[in-house]
Amino acid sequence: MHSKTSRAARGFAARAAAAAALACAAALACGAARAAGDQVVGEELARQNNCLACHQVQSKRVGPAFAAVAERFAGQDGAADYIAQAIRSGGRGRWGAIPMPAQPQVDEDEARRLAAWILGLKRAE
Ligand code: HEC
Repeated sequence: MHSKTSRAARGFAARAAAAAALACAAALACGAARAAGDQVVGEELARQNNCLACHQVQSKRVGPAFAAVAERFAGQDGAADYIAQAIRSGGRGRWGAIPMPAQPQVDEDEARRLAAWILGLKRAE
């Protein structure tokens, strides 16, 4: 009786683990697809909002390269919030002598998406 119960329990645990692994694999695949989509949306937003007039992804233009921004803020708590806010309000003195004008045409949701896109960029080797 006892062994029968524990065999049933083991079977249940194994099925639960298999189900969890499947759900996890599916979630990972979804996450990767979403991340790839965000990269495209981010670049499109940057183009639409004229960010690319002053910024490039890999090289300094009027403002810092977005990949350099990602590098500076890598792993910092609150970086996404800070960047989203910095995009809308502009600023000066953090990268050089030229100030960045405020970007009031960017709404909060777009600013958050732009920030996530910028922070996900990597410097080209
Ligand atoms: C007129 C030129 C110009 C435009 C347009 C512009 N930027 Fe900037 N940006 C700058 C400059 C210059 C800096 C550096 C400011 C400084 O030294 O503090 C900067 C800095 C930044 C930073 C770094 C902020 C920090 O605190 O480190 C981010 C992120 C950024 N810009 C994103 C954007 C995004 C996104 C857009 C489009 C919505 C945009 N910028 C539009 C010129 C511009």
